[in-house]
Amino acid sequence: MFINFWYPIGTSEEVTNDKPHRAQVLGLRLVAFRDDEGEAHVLSDVCVHRGGSLGKGWVRDNNVVCPYHGWRFAGNGRCTTIPTISEDDKPPARAKVDSYPVEERYGIVFAFLGDLPEEERPPLHEVEEYQQEGWRANKLVVFEVNAFYERSIENGLDPSHNEFVHPAQGSPIMKADVLTKPLDVQDNPWGSRFLVRFFNPAYGTKKFETDDQMAAEVIAGSGHIGPNTMITWIKMSEDNKFHQYFFEAPIDESHTRIFFLSMRTFMLDPEMDERLTKVSLLIAQEDIDILEELTPVRTPGITTKEVLIAADQAVVHYRKYLKDWQDKGWRVDLAKLRTTGGDIGYAVPCPDRRTSSNWVLDPIPTLSTV
Ligand code: FES
Ligand SMILES: [Fe+2]
Repeated sequence: MFINFWYPIGTSEEVTNDKPHRAQVLGLRLVAFRDDEGEAHVLSDVCVHRGGSLGKGWVRDNNVVCPYHGWRFAGNGRCTTIPTISEDDKPPARAKVDSYPVEERYGIVFAFLGDLPEEERPPLHEVEEYQQEGWRANKLVVFEVNAFYERSIENGLDPSHNEFVHPAQGSPIMKADVLTKPLDVQDNPWGSRFLVRFFNPAYGTKKFETDDQMAAEVIAGSGHIGPNTMITWIKMSEDNKFHQYFFEAPIDESHTRIFFLSMRTFMLDPEMDERLTKVSLLIAQEDIDILEELTPVRTPGITTKEVLIAADQAVVHYRKYLKDWQDKGWRVDLAKLRTTGGDIGYAVPCPDRRTSSNWVLDPIPTLSTV
């Protein structure tokens, strides 16, 4: 798990100006709410008075109210009201909680969980075809998986499992000429991607001897942006394309909340949405059944504990990126978080910590860069 990336915190419907939305990401609780202008805010959930959970409170006058002693916190994380101090006194300067940059897109409230200044932040992935003519977005689907999110992203970057795991998709097979070669993976500043030719036996035989059989060819591939966004591109023909986006929020070391957005250029009738969502979820369930049984739960830190082959190239690239981000000091120290979390209140440091001091909660432990 890494700080300094964008994470989905809730759907637009979940984040309201009435009841706080509680989420857990990177092992820590967050609270999201909306002000009267409709702007969403995401704060650390821990009230710095004596540890109440803001997400269990309520929203009043553009503030989230702690249910323990009624302290109020504005969207910028500052405490605005303490009911038990005199009206002439101001809340102490330390009465502040971390407040994170927010972007709302595709019906999802995303927060940047980290302290990087705006110009240094990795981008939130732009779905260019969203609301574009000729494309239709399925209703956003959110589901939880009892698996570590990096296992889930790696599963998406693995073209050789489809033949075995996905009968619901027609068990697509990589074409023989690419099956045994290292994947041609292209690196970008914040992620990598590959495209390969598949043959889908649901549409014909394996041998490609006739034009009809050639029509069964599908160009498909996947990529990741940052550690927690996975994209799949499936092109069955020029006017028959699927783009699928998985924005993943690691709840903790073994649970993930996945926000799934699917875009398509065919069957554009809204009445098709439900049927297509059903198929997508059936396919996702086939993956989940595998993911929830992997050993160990998280990927081993060293490659000698697996036998990686040419077809695993995209996974290898993904792990190189993770290593780079670890070298920047962004990887959460899971062991320390696990052993000290009961005694120490942690928060992911927000950008304000770069310019103001005196924060009550400790920054979430990260692996040292040395
Ligand atoms: S713990 Fe939140 S107001 Fe006291
Ligand atoms: Fe899969």
